[in-house]
Amino acid sequence: MLQINTIMKDTYILINVLFFIFTLSNYLTVHCQVEPKEPLAKLWNIENDEIPQYLSIEKNLSMVDGILKPLLDDDNFGGTYIDVIQNMIFVNTLNFTKVEQIKNLTEIRQYINLLNFIRASNSTAKLSSRFQDIYNLANSLMPKECMGYINSKTNNIIIATCNESRNESSNIAFINAINDRMYYPIFIYYNCRKRPDNVTPSLNSRQIVTRVLAGDGIIFENAVDKCSIGFWARIPPNENFIATAGHCYEQDAYYFLFPWNSRNELGVFIGTMQYYFEETIDFGLISIDNDSDIQPVPSIRNTDSEQYKELFIDDVILVSSNGAHLCFSGVFSHVKCGYVAALNGFATDGDYFRENLFIIELASKFGDSGGPVFSYKNLSHVSLNGILSSGVTIFMIILVLSEL
Ligand SMILES: *[C@@H]1O[C@H](CO)[C@@H](O)[C@H](O)[C@H]1NC(C)=O
Ligand SMILES: *[C@@H]1O[C@H](CO)[C@@H](O)[C@H](O)[C@H]1NC(C)=O
Ligand SMILES: *[C@@H]1O[C@H](CO)[C@@H](O)[C@H](O)[C@H]1NC(C)=O
Ligand SMILES: *[C@@H]1O[C@H](CO)[C@@H](O)[C@H](O)[C@H]1NC(C)=O
Ligand SMILES: *[C@@H]1O[C@H](CO)[C@@H](O)[C@H](O)[C@H]1NC(C)=O
Ligand SMILES: *[C@@H]1O[C@H](CO)[C@@H](O)[C@H](O)[C@H]1NC(C)=O
Ligand SMILES: *[C@@H]1O[C@H](CO)[C@@H](O)[C@H](O)[C@H]1NC(C)=O
Ligand SMILES: *[C@@H]1O[C@H](CO)[C@@H](O)[C@H](O)[C@H]1NC(C)=O
Repeated sequence: MLQINTIMKDTYILINVLFFIFTLSNYLTVHCQVEPKEPLAKLWNIENDEIPQYLSIEKNLSMVDGILKPLLDDDNFGGTYIDVIQNMIFVNTLNFTKVEQIKNLTEIRQYINLLNFIRASNSTAKLSSRFQDIYNLANSLMPKECMGYINSKTNNIIIATCNESRNESSNIAFINAINDRMYYPIFIYYNCRKRPDNVTPSLNSRQIVTRVLAGDGIIFENAVDKCSIGFWARIPPNENFIATAGHCYEQDAYYFLFPWNSRNELGVFIGTMQYYFEETIDFGLISIDNDSDIQPVPSIRNTDSEQYKELFIDDVILVSSNGAHLCFSGVFSHVKCGYVAALNGFATDGDYFRENLFIIELASKFGDSGGPVFSYKNLSHVSLNGILSSGVTIFMIILVLSEL
């Protein structure tokens, strides 16, 4: 049995050195008349050419949200979230006497037209202490397929579970303990076993298989289990890895490429998973075997787009506002975007407890696990935020990068 702590420390160091590989490359634009909507345009329900404007609004709001949050005390306020479409920061407020003082602060005065103080009943102090208690309960009772987070938009704690696991004894014990404490969080049950929609193969968008992008699929040698590629990692001078979710680990299994829109067949051989963690973080590294013919590329697959088929990873930056956009790329869902619902959630699958998760309320599919989670800087360049972990229909993002 390997000592997890030691390995984790080594991996953090390792992750630390990985990111210098994200180099800028020249970008090719392909011209086309009828453009499908970019994932962000779908999320915000706007046209593609409006995306830069809304990205700039979001940048402004996140900046002001960052200034505002430290000024809000935990007893009179209950969290904030941004709304890009309304160009507004919503501030959950318990005590409106405080609002006038906040608005009068020199650093805030110039932004008051962006702020909307709304009445709320749960303070940050109350939510945090109750969340901490629920977190401890989950950590000791280990309910199956369950996650928890503080949601600013609903100003409450959300406990999301698979409907199929609600009668498990550990889940019942967990719910009963919460009810005994009279916390009244919001319980959400999802049907998790529902099979994902059928993907219709469209072979014309199939790429040259040996060029590997973040978001491409990987398939185990059993030709059944699949995950997605998170990013390309390298230990100098020449050891190359593909980062994915730790729960994609299978002992001694060989991993092969599984391109978008392909059938259940093994693609190009990649290698074996050499490092993985399932507890606390969900992260694994597949070493690219010397015999493998793949060429990893530091960009994200977005081949459903006419113009921006590859999104270049410029840097690693974490979003910091509830309500900000985050997107992922995965072999089944392709690129999808949603809003950040929480910046610090937990999840248990019954065996492992994971923490420090970003939560987005957006469905992903089996097989998207491990794919990159990113935010757009502009239409062709993105910042990497983390990788997709397993979820309860809602998905979760690992803060691999903040734990360095
Ligand atoms: C961002 O904020 C600055 C300063 O408040 C303002 O001048 C600018 O118009 C804002 N940009 C957008 C897109 O809202
Ligand atoms: C509301 O805030 C004001 C100003 O800080 C404070 O004097 C007052 O006690 C607060 N009211 C409550 C109910 O906490
Ligand atoms: C706002 O701040 C100024 C000084 O910066 C102070 O004179 C004034 O009383 C404050 N107003 C309120 C409503 O707090
Ligand atoms: C949960 O499962 C039960 C039994 O299969 C079903 O009756 C119920 O509708 C499901 N609930 C949800 C929220 O899907
Ligand atoms: C859970 O148990 C209840 C009561 O025994 C039952 O009605 C329900 O169908 C069960 N749900 C599932 C998903 O098994
Ligand atoms: C939040 O406020 C609602 C409404 O007052 C309450 O029912 C709920 O128990 C509160 N949530 C928590 C976690 O205390
Ligand atoms: C792969 O190549 C590296 C560097 O050339 C070498 O150090 C390593 O031993 C090789 N691994 C295998 C499995 O052949
Ligand atoms: C996006 O930003 C990069 C610099 O980070 C720039 O080189 C590129 O041209 C921009 N692309 C678009 C589509 O605006």
